[in-house]
Amino acid sequence: MNVLVIGSGGREYAMVKALTKSPSVTKVSAIPGSSAISEMAYVPSSVELSSHSAVLSFCKDEEINLVCFGPEAPLVDGLSDFLRENDINVFGPSQVGSLLEGDKLFAKIFLKEFDIPTGDYIEVSDIASLKKALDETSWQTYVFKYKDLAGGKGVLVSKSKDEVMSFAKKFGVTKNQKEVVGYLEEPLYGWELSYICLVNETGYAVCPILQDHKRLKEEDEGPNTGGMGVVGPLKIEGSLEEQIKETIVKPTLEGFKKRDMLYRGVVYFGVMVTEKGPKVLEYNVRYGDPEAQLIFPLVDTDWFEVMNKVAKGEDFKLPEAKTYGACIVLAADGYPEKPKKGAVISGAKSESIYHAGTRKDRDRNWIVNGGRVLNVLGFSNDLESAISKAYENVSKVEFKGMQYRKDIGAKIIDKSFS
Ligand code: GLY
Repeated sequence: MNVLVIGSGGREYAMVKALTKSPSVTKVSAIPGSSAISEMAYVPSSVELSSHSAVLSFCKDEEINLVCFGPEAPLVDGLSDFLRENDINVFGPSQVGSLLEGDKLFAKIFLKEFDIPTGDYIEVSDIASLKKALDETSWQTYVFKYKDLAGGKGVLVSKSKDEVMSFAKKFGVTKNQKEVVGYLEEPLYGWELSYICLVNETGYAVCPILQDHKRLKEEDEGPNTGGMGVVGPLKIEGSLEEQIKETIVKPTLEGFKKRDMLYRGVVYFGVMVTEKGPKVLEYNVRYGDPEAQLIFPLVDTDWFEVMNKVAKGEDFKLPEAKTYGACIVLAADGYPEKPKKGAVISGAKSESIYHAGTRKDRDRNWIVNGGRVLNVLGFSNDLESAISKAYENVSKVEFKGMQYRKDIGAKIIDKSFS
């Protein structure tokens, strides 16, 4: 079988690696791919992701049996629909399904329509509507969310009305704005988990439950990032998991059916466990990054077979993870605001390292080429030693300005997360 992976980061590195292990896969290709991915897969240099017809021609020429989507942007751009319309087998939701991530207002309306627990919100279009919302709400902390994709930069959490006003202006909240630009959202307090499911019309399967660390610095300080590290599987109480399934997962799948939304891929429920129960913070329509870097190695299965069944709308299963894992993200100097590229990396090649923002130079050195550079993994029979192993592996890597958190998983170990 021939598989095409769409994407180029650490998540796609993990996906390619998992797919190459399947006995039924003969060739994996990746677009746009990366230097590191090209060591495991065919990366055509001439195919642009933005040209849907070029991707389709590649699929036909290479007799691709399955296309697996990594990031959300090409889904929101309609590539999955275009390929399906041309008889290509696709793991990834339809364009309308991908709006759950691509349009946060669409997601909020969906959540409210199907009575799925989430924070309340007030729509914002022009300056007057934002000012009214800020003045009338009793929320002590203001959460402003821009509705469209903004590479993780469209959310502000602040106690200052002025800061919210100037942030919102940057995203188009102006005097004469008529359409909704975003919303002010009720802040949710509690602890967060990444509840990631594979989904199609036959049902769903839950991936290992993980906890991400979104802030750059220890103790959840500093700016928001794409994620600085994950640990898991989290063993949550059965009653909590039951609540997540009954009040969040099942109504979401019902919603897909009622709205006739074709959904064959991943639903990543960003869940906040609050005093009033679990609530949806956000939907993502893809594996998390760096969550995928743990999910694939933790679940010992034929990943081609699973994703192929999901893509075809057939029954599928996912075995439980038998071990624990930790993934520490090594980020570039200046990440997330302005990551500096070009530093030479030492110790970059090992089985415990999944590449993300790297490239190889002419002298065959690994070079920093993005914000999140490497994912360093550790696995063991218990979480604490998985985390220790991951940090031991981190100590073998070096590059100028390397940033990483030293407390990944610490709150889980000392149980202060609940
Ligand atoms: N790690 C968070 C995300 O993938 O959105």
